[in-house]
Amino acid sequence: MLQYVNMKIDGGDFRATKGSSVLDVAIEYGICIPHLCHVPNLSEIGACRLCIVEHVVNGRSKVTTSCTLLVKEGMVIRSNTEKIKKLRRNIAELLVAQAPNSRAIQDIAVRCGVKEVRYPFRNENCVLCGRCVRVCSELFGAKAIGFVGRGKDRRVEPPFGVLSDLCKHCGTCIDLCPMTFNPCEGYMKSGEEHLCGKCESQMLLADNLPESCVWCELGEGFQCSRY
Ligand code: SF4
Ligand code: SF4
Ligand code: FES
Repeated sequence: MLQYVNMKIDGGDFRATKGSSVLDVAIEYGICIPHLCHVPNLSEIGACRLCIVEHVVNGRSKVTTSCTLLVKEGMVIRSNTEKIKKLRRNIAELLVAQAPNSRAIQDIAVRCGVKEVRYPFRNENCVLCGRCVRVCSELFGAKAIGFVGRGKDRRVEPPFGVLSDLCKHCGTCIDLCPMTFNPCEGYMKSGEEHLCGKCESQMLLADNLPESCVWCELGEGFQCSRY
């Protein structure tokens, strides 16, 4: 039998299913908390940190990722304070610097209020969100790809660098990868360390969305009013 807890998010009272994460509850009630590495029904790895919130305990707040934070009776969460918006903007800015040609990441960054990118562009083809690795392992049981290496050498690869019989060629890893959504035309060059703005012009619903919505187009959606 389902058990419930009562909690507050941004001053509102919510009933949440025990065992669910704060991000799950926010999505269920249409509160937009930006997220990238979260995929419904897969494990959470807290990789992107875009989903940070303030968790208030005894009057003191702690910044934590909402996808890895399980709900508790009487929990108090602030998802959209000035502190969170500033931290989130910086995280989004770093993501753009890492992968400036990803349409999905540009969309997220614009919706998080990023106006310029102060970090050097790295033009990487992976932001290590782990969406592909988890769907392959947890949904299909294939384990055809995984993380290898550490630090700046960390990357996603098939075992021993060779695509094996383990792969079922389902294509789901590609469908879920934020690097594959309508990529921008070519890499940004050195000296173009700013957002091109093309993505924003394509976000036709942007004016009607709450400030915190990232219009992420990550496939599973927020189940919010834009769909
Ligand atoms: S295409 Fe292959 S590597 Fe990708 S999710 Fe499917 S089984 Fe895994
Ligand atoms: S390949 Fe794509 S889905 Fe996989 S970790 Fe990298 S960015 Fe994420
Ligand atoms: S969605 Fe929570 S850390 Fe990425």
